[in-house]
Amino acid sequence: MSSTDLRAHLSQNIIALIRGKRKIAILTGAGISAEAGLATFRGKDGLWAKMRAEELASIQGFMANPQLVWEWYQHRRDVLSSAQPASGHRALAEWERSHDGDFTLITQNVDGLHRLAGSSNVLELHGNIRVTRCFKCGREPIRGVVEFRGEELPKCSCGGLLRPGVVWFGEMLPEPELTRAFEAAEQCDLFLTIGTSSQVYPAASLPVVAKEHGATVIEINPEETPFTPHADIHLSGGAGDILSAMVLSLSAI
Ligand code: OAD
Repeated sequence: MSSTDLRAHLSQNIIALIRGKRKIAILTGAGISAEAGLATFRGKDGLWAKMRAEELASIQGFMANPQLVWEWYQHRRDVLSSAQPASGHRALAEWERSHDGDFTLITQNVDGLHRLAGSSNVLELHGNIRVTRCFKCGREPIRGVVEFRGEELPKCSCGGLLRPGVVWFGEMLPEPELTRAFEAAEQCDLFLTIGTSSQVYPAASLPVVAKEHGATVIEINPEETPFTPHADIHLSGGAGDILSAMVLSLSAI
């Protein structure tokens, strides 16, 4: 469906409702980046259907086999190096530019595609895969990009092993981002949850918090999720089509 066709399907009531909101908070997940060619995590084709999260995305997994973990993240970095933001990322960046009011974009994605698309107020709750930091002292290396090409494991100047700058299962999320994300959820009058299976906490509690504080909550996802029964509106479809149509409609006088 083209954006124009979809625009006709987005009811004028929904557009009028969105247009009236000044404080907007948005949560995105892997579904928005699926349209940039990056795999999601759950579902039959998801990464966790083929790989074991506890081996690849946990402290225990890294301590047991840092080489395997580095190989996997290096592969994902390589795939990402040729990925471009999809229409959903671009539509959100455009929306932020044209919006008169608060606009907070919270993402669970580690791919950095929101910033690449031009979004500026982005909270990366699960870190960023392009970043490297020390497993021991936590510092980021001073010199450039660290790569792992099957030679020696990269090390920090303190002697500790370097690791990808993402949040693993069982780890705390970065405190400033988490605090700002919950503040945005509490204070917004419109919350959109886009392309996430709503299964991973604490991110999955953000739309719940927004709703409890009186916001209208819209979910965009081709599938239903555990949050769907609580959403005020569920828009079933791909993030790119729906967001492009939304932003086009919002810009029309
Ligand atoms: P999931 O893989 O769990 O869910 C992706 C969601 O995107 C599913 O609900 C799909 O139906 C939906 N989807 C697929 N294609 C879509 C499209 N074109 N437009 C919109 N939605 C689409 O990914 P997340 O919910 O992001 O954490 O996963 C959350 C966290 O679990 C990740 O950040 C990662 C993972 O384990 C860590 O690694 C810590």
